[in-house]
This record gives sequence, structure tokens and C-alpha cells, in this order.
Amino acid sequence: PVVLAANMGGLVPLSTAFAAVAGLVAHECIPGFGRLLLHAGRRGRDLNKPKNPVLPESLGMAAGTVYLVTMFLFIPVPFVLERTMLFPFEQLGAYTAALLSITCMLFLGFTDDVLNVKWRHKILLPAMSVLPLLMIYSVTSGRTEVVVPLPLRPLLGHFLQLGVLYYVYMALLAIFCTHSINILAGVNGVEVGQSVVVALSIVLHNLMALRHGEPPTEHVFSLTLILPFVAVSLALLRHNWWPATVFVGDTYCYFAGMTFAVVGILGHFGKTLLLFFVPQIFNFLYSMPQLLGLVSCPRHRLPSLNPITGALEPSKVTFVLDRRNAPIIAVLSRIGLLRIYARNKDEITTNNLTLLNLLLVHGGSMREDRLAMLLMSVQTICNLSAILLRHHFASYFFP
Ligand code: UD1
Ligand code: MG
Repeated sequence: PVVLAANMGGLVPLSTAFAAVAGLVAHECIPGFGRLLLHAGRRGRDLNKPKNPVLPESLGMAAGTVYLVTMFLFIPVPFVLERTMLFPFEQLGAYTAALLSITCMLFLGFTDDVLNVKWRHKILLPAMSVLPLLMIYSVTSGRTEVVVPLPLRPLLGHFLQLGVLYYVYMALLAIFCTHSINILAGVNGVEVGQSVVVALSIVLHNLMALRHGEPPTEHVFSLTLILPFVAVSLALLRHNWWPATVFVGDTYCYFAGMTFAVVGILGHFGKTLLLFFVPQIFNFLYSMPQLLGLVSCPRHRLPSLNPITGALEPSKVTFVLDRRNAPIIAVLSRIGLLRIYARNKDEITTNNLTLLNLLLVHGGSMREDRLAMLLMSVQTICNLSAILLRHHFASYFFP
């Protein structure tokens, strides 16, 4: 076990080295990839710039490709390094299934970018992509129990077997991680920025767990998957940061979400992972009235540019109040989660229901990069609190 632990430690620096090279390669490849995508007709208009310049779209494909090549090249490393079977066959199975799920999601994300798949269809794409992973999970670990929090133990016992519900939970996790990033979007740098903060939170969680003596295999495994992701994302962020020269596309949002779901599932920290998604959970719940069609949902809900000041302002939506949406609107506006701009008989104009618009409602209008920075700061504060909760206070509830 001592040899094993030592070699485990060796994997993390090696993975970091692979990640560094991947980041540099991605950084250099993205402009050329962008020109090719532009040439192939993959383009979008930057809606928050005065002249709406045309930028190449779907550069998540470049980051994802460099990531996958890096991971494929990394596969032999644990086996060459470890003659005493550091990553046993089971681990190799998990590793390849993880990469298969991520590859599949990258492919479906690009398909969505090209074909503009309808919401009712695309909602299920991540559940399809995560199936190989769930299969490997069931034949290897197959654990479907959760530890019950202390106050509920007299009722439910120490462990609760969730059985098939656990698999449903994992599929829902994959759906949530991918789509929740895709709907917290529309401002230069924001899709990649939030993903970088989530990924770094996972890195910190893994390192702290290793320090606290939790079983190393799962956390090292997670680190080897997430470090190269951080690197290619930072490279993409440089090109997508305000004023962006490329768009990341749904391809990147799906790729990022699936990578998080994969490490959460195989690293057995699916619940902790959700703690790193608090802004996305808020944005998802807040968006519900528009996603469910109770309030009309325009094609784009991103904040809008004030051409005179050059700053972003909340984008607005006008709709008819009816008995289904009126109570929701009343409550949201009462608790400060909605600004009403105009009201005319039954017709009302409010901000679009997104976290980005809400930050502008309360923080005042600001330039696009400041909004992206604000969102990343909110995410960082939430995630550091989550790590504190998980590593220092969880023992009170889960002794
Ligand atoms: C999601 C959001 C939509 C938001 C869009 C922006 C929901 C239900 N859907 O839709 O409200 O407007 O993302 O990405 O919440 N764009 C910019 N600047 C950016 C990023 C994107 O102008 O920094 C524009 C470009 O025209 C780009 C397009 O958004 O081509 C990409 O939109 P897309 O990712 O296809 O939208 P959805 O994911 O369907
Ligand atoms: Mg999108």
C-alpha cells in the first residue's frame, strides 16, 4: 500500500505536466480552428457589441479535441508507471467509459450547435451520453447507498439503499450539469469562466480529501481527468474573454457539464458536486417560469447593450399576466428578485429571469467583462463556502 500511495502521488504531477502542454497547444490551436469553423459557416453575431461583429462559433470543439487527445495519450501512463497495478483493469474500464461519455457529449454538443436541436429533444442528450458510464459504474462499484444525515437516522437508519433511483439521480446530474451551464450564458467569458471556477473547486476538493486521508484512488482519478480540463478551458477563456474573438458554443457547455458529471459520479462525490453548482441551481430555478412557458421566453435572454454608455443592462420581456404566472410575478417582485419596468392593464414588462440580468438589476449597469467577473466572483464565494461546509462541518451531520 505504501508503494501504491507513493505512485498515486506521482500521477498528479504527471497529469499536471500533460495538462500544461494541453493548455499551451489549445491556446495556439484555437485561432486556426476558429478560421476553419468560420470558413465552414459556424459563426454567430456578438450581440453585445455596437456593430455585432461575426465571430467563429463552437470553439468548445477545439478545447474538447485537445482535451481528448491528451487523455488518450495519458492512458498508458499509469500502467507504465505502475507495474504493481496502480490502475487495475477495473480502473482502465472506468477511464475509457469516462472518455467515451465525454466524447459522446462533445459530438452531441456540436450537433446541437449545427442543427439547433429543439429543447424538448436536447434535454435528453446528456442522459444518453452518460449511459456507458452508468454501465461501468454498475459492474464495478455498483454502490447505490447514501449516508443518512444524523437527524434522520432514527427514521431511516445509517445508510439508505436507493437502488435504481441512484442511477436516475446520476442521469439527472448529467442533464443538469450540461444544461445549467448552457443557460447561464450569453456574455463573453461567462460559460468558460463559471466552468473554470467549478473545475478548480473540484481540484481543491480532491486535494483536501487526499490531505484528510480519504481513499486516494477516486480523488487521484478525478484529478487526472479535471486538471487537463482546467488547462484547455483557461486557454479557451483567453480567446473568449471580453472582447471575445471566438464563441465557445453549446459544444463547450455540454463538454464541461459532462466532464463534471463524470468525475462526480466516478469519484463518488455527486452530492458535493451539486454544492459547486449553487449559482447554476439558482439560475435554473429562477428561469423555470420562462422554461416552462408560464412567462414568454425569447430566443435570447442575454443582457442588452446600451449603445450610448457601452454598458450592459437587464434585457426585458413583455407578457400578459394570467392566473398561472401572476402569483409568481407578485412573489418574485416582492422579495426583490424581479424588476417591473412597465404595467399596462394585463400586460407587464419585467427583466428576463436570469441570474445575469438580476445581477444587473441590483448591481447597476456595467461593462460586459465586469459582469463576467462579478459572476465568477459570486461563484467563487459560493464554492469556497461549499468546500468549507463539506470539509469542516459535514462531520456534524455525517459522523
Ligand atoms: C442560451 C440561453 C439564451 C441565451 C443564449 C446565449 C436559455 C433558455 N437560453 O440559449 O437565453 O441568449 O444561451 O448564449 O436561457 N452570444 C453572444 N455573446 C456571447 C455568447 C453568445 O452574443 O458572449 C450569442 C451569439 O449570437 C451566439 C449565440 O449567443 O451565436 C449562441 O447562442 P446559443 O448557445 O445557441 O443559445 P442557447 O444555448 O440555445
Ligand atoms: Mg448555448
